[in-house]
Amino acid sequence: MRFDMKECIRRTKHGQPLTKAQITGLVRGVTAKNPAEAIPDYQLSAWLMAVCLRGLTDDETAVLTAAMRDSGQTMHWEMLGGPVCDKHSTGGVGDKTTLILAPIAAACGVYMPKMSGRGLGHTGGTIDKLESIPGLTTALEPDAFLSLVQRAGFAVAMQTGDLAPADKVLYALRDVTETVDSIPLICASIMSKKLATGADHILLDVKVGSGAFMKNDADAAELSRLMLTAAKADGRDCTAVLTDMDRPLGMYIGNALEVQEAIAVLRSGGDPELREFCIDMAAELLAMAGKGTYEACRSQAAEAVASGRALEHLRMMIEGQHGDPRVTEDLSLLPSARCSRVFCADRSGWVTGMDSEQIGRASVLLGAGRMQKKDPIDPGAGIVLAAKYGSAVQAGDPLMTLYADTEAMLDAAEHSLRTAVTVSETAPPAQPLIRAKYSGRELT
Ligand code: URA
Repeated sequence: MRFDMKECIRRTKHGQPLTKAQITGLVRGVTAKNPAEAIPDYQLSAWLMAVCLRGLTDDETAVLTAAMRDSGQTMHWEMLGGPVCDKHSTGGVGDKTTLILAPIAAACGVYMPKMSGRGLGHTGGTIDKLESIPGLTTALEPDAFLSLVQRAGFAVAMQTGDLAPADKVLYALRDVTETVDSIPLICASIMSKKLATGADHILLDVKVGSGAFMKNDADAAELSRLMLTAAKADGRDCTAVLTDMDRPLGMYIGNALEVQEAIAVLRSGGDPELREFCIDMAAELLAMAGKGTYEACRSQAAEAVASGRALEHLRMMIEGQHGDPRVTEDLSLLPSARCSRVFCADRSGWVTGMDSEQIGRASVLLGAGRMQKKDPIDPGAGIVLAAKYGSAVQAGDPLMTLYADTEAMLDAAEHSLRTAVTVSETAPPAQPLIRAKYSGRELT
């Protein structure tokens, strides 16, 4: 009997839950090669909009996530013989956490076979950042990937089309039908890929604020709850940390620029707030993987940075992925932009706002991200902040330096940044980067 997609659209439109068979049939139709079984884009789009407007129940979301996970290859890591961890950010500006956390975790004895993506909209992607390292490839054959994880403790590959392929189709439709911002759909999209990647311990960095998909804490908490439920249903250990994206993370935004900042942190320099954040996140993951109490894991993570062992793991990974490992010693080997311009404060006071969405969009205008899917990116482009949330500044002090290939790009970004930084007469309250933490182990 032919799959009744109209019935699925009708039920979701009226807020009536779909059965498990309906959801699995729908996901099968998303990737079906046979035209008689494939569900056309217009029906999928109608259903996605119905989900956006009416939502899904927790059970429907869990079934959708599992069906999307099973739409392609699932990975297994028993051969590593040790704890296998993963970390996922829901997307932010200046978020180079993976480049710092993964070598720390590897240096502390856990494995991180990491599948990552490219930048999306105004948010950056780990693959674009790593590919700014001369020679580095993220298209690794499975054997090479495994052997590098065994040697270096981690490797970072581009997510292949075989992993949760239903998400690839649905995500592309959501992108052009204004249906990205649905919490159940975001949960299914992220968790289908995470579960297919096969880690035992998953740390979710749920960004919240102006530069994130989740603009407020209530939505971020709801997304966390759903993702933790999906992980638990699949027998995975998962923690979600809500982290601030009302301001960029760290001081550098852009691909080679973020690699620079990550290396600086692993050399015990860089932005102290970013360094402490990455050590906190690494400690969280190590504690989940059974490496000790949170405090003991924090000390291990801090020692891995202070001793240079984490930097050595980054160097091994870069070399294993055919990049120039000398960048870990000599940052001038990374690509840089041809033009730069300093952007200054027009009044004195305290920085009380750093709109990360506007700053992310400006970095795209500078060439650090893509306006359209096929656009090339400029690895050297981006922004280096000279002041951050809470800094005291005088009129005329530098707030940031913009880097791009042309003066026209600097003009466009400078124009778009006019309202990105708020300078006020009084100092703002301290704003911790970690806003909340939820553990899947506490779900009832
Ligand atoms: N990242 C994803 O992979 N999927 C979403 O839906 C949103 C962010």
